[in-house]
Amino acid sequence: MEGLRTLDDIDVDGKTVIVRADLNVPMKDLYMTDGLRIARLTPTLRELLGRGAKIVLLSHFGRPDGKFDAKLSLRRVNEVLGAALNRPPLAFAEDCVGRDAEQAVAELEPGEILLCENLRFHAGEEDNDPAFAKALSRLGDIYVNEAFSCSHRAHASIEGITHFLPAAAGRGMEEELKALHRALDKPERPVAAIVGGSKVSTKLAALTNLLDKVQVLIIGGGMANTFLHAQGVAVGKSLCEPDLADTARDVLAKAKRLGCTVVLPVDAIVAPALKNGVATRTVAIQAVPKDEMILDIGPKSVAEVLTQLERCRTLVWNGPFGAFEIAPFDQGTTAIARDVAERTKQSKLLSVAGGGDTMAALAKAGVDTKLSYVSAAGGAFLEWLEGRVLPGVEALLRQGQKA
Ligand code: 3PG
Repeated sequence: MEGLRTLDDIDVDGKTVIVRADLNVPMKDLYMTDGLRIARLTPTLRELLGRGAKIVLLSHFGRPDGKFDAKLSLRRVNEVLGAALNRPPLAFAEDCVGRDAEQAVAELEPGEILLCENLRFHAGEEDNDPAFAKALSRLGDIYVNEAFSCSHRAHASIEGITHFLPAAAGRGMEEELKALHRALDKPERPVAAIVGGSKVSTKLAALTNLLDKVQVLIIGGGMANTFLHAQGVAVGKSLCEPDLADTARDVLAKAKRLGCTVVLPVDAIVAPALKNGVATRTVAIQAVPKDEMILDIGPKSVAEVLTQLERCRTLVWNGPFGAFEIAPFDQGTTAIARDVAERTKQSKLLSVAGGGDTMAALAKAGVDTKLSYVSAAGGAFLEWLEGRVLPGVEALLRQGQKA
């Protein structure tokens, strides 16, 4: 990506490098999304250590709101991190700024990593307080952002710190930005977007931005129901946002003006409730019973999506088609995910997906490693789909342009 300073552009030998990572991982159930976050961080850490650097690792963990909370101590992540790096738990500093942290850094030897306590125990982190950013910058000579998934936050460890230190993107960040750039900024056409998930309200900005960029817009999940409702289709007890019917009609009208094909379900798997073992049936979309709900797309809809994807060269995907957590409502998403993986393997499609639910659905389909790129970011991926400039990325580009 033009103007992006990477590890290739910095000399780290004998230097202390501050790496902003995203160690915001659920500790009870380390599922794929988060295992992936840590796995993607390790190449940068290994490379920096191999090049003679000392590393100070910074991250937030949860949302402690500027106060200490023992349950959200990064100590809990240290062991997982050590295991991922094939080392014992890393040296740990009880705070991320101040005398103790600076002392712990002073004791670091080249080839060692110091993990600092949760950034968000300080209000200055989320406030992007320049004094806090400056205090963080005292821990090292160079700053590396390896947290795309946090780069939509204009926080001190993401944006503020770049005013005090030379900054570069880590390898994971670099790979992610390149993949996203290829998918939406310079894509091979036709481009398709799959936007699923439960609510139109949370994805309206993404839908609007995508309409200007894609030739095929495939709408799935609960949000499709709002579009169906807006077109006069009765959706029974399904999740629906009737207040957004006008908005949905505006999106459809804009798509028509731009010549963008919108794909909505033509049939559905319905059931009286979302629960294990419930009786299901397949109905045409015009025949959803009053007392049942749409919980997945039906086979004709799957076939239509696959037909549309056949003519596309690029796909961006955010959000599942059905209530994939409970079988059999994962079948639509799984069938489409496997087809996307196969077309990607045959080099017919560049496929980029992101978001926690999407990753979990792809993992359930067994193809989470088989797309061109799967982003482990949630909010940041969505903001990127919305076409927003992410403060963390902007900060790196600003420095790259100055260099
Ligand atoms: C995430 O898990 O998406 C990132 O760590 C950002 O977390 P946040 O939404 O609490 O800023």
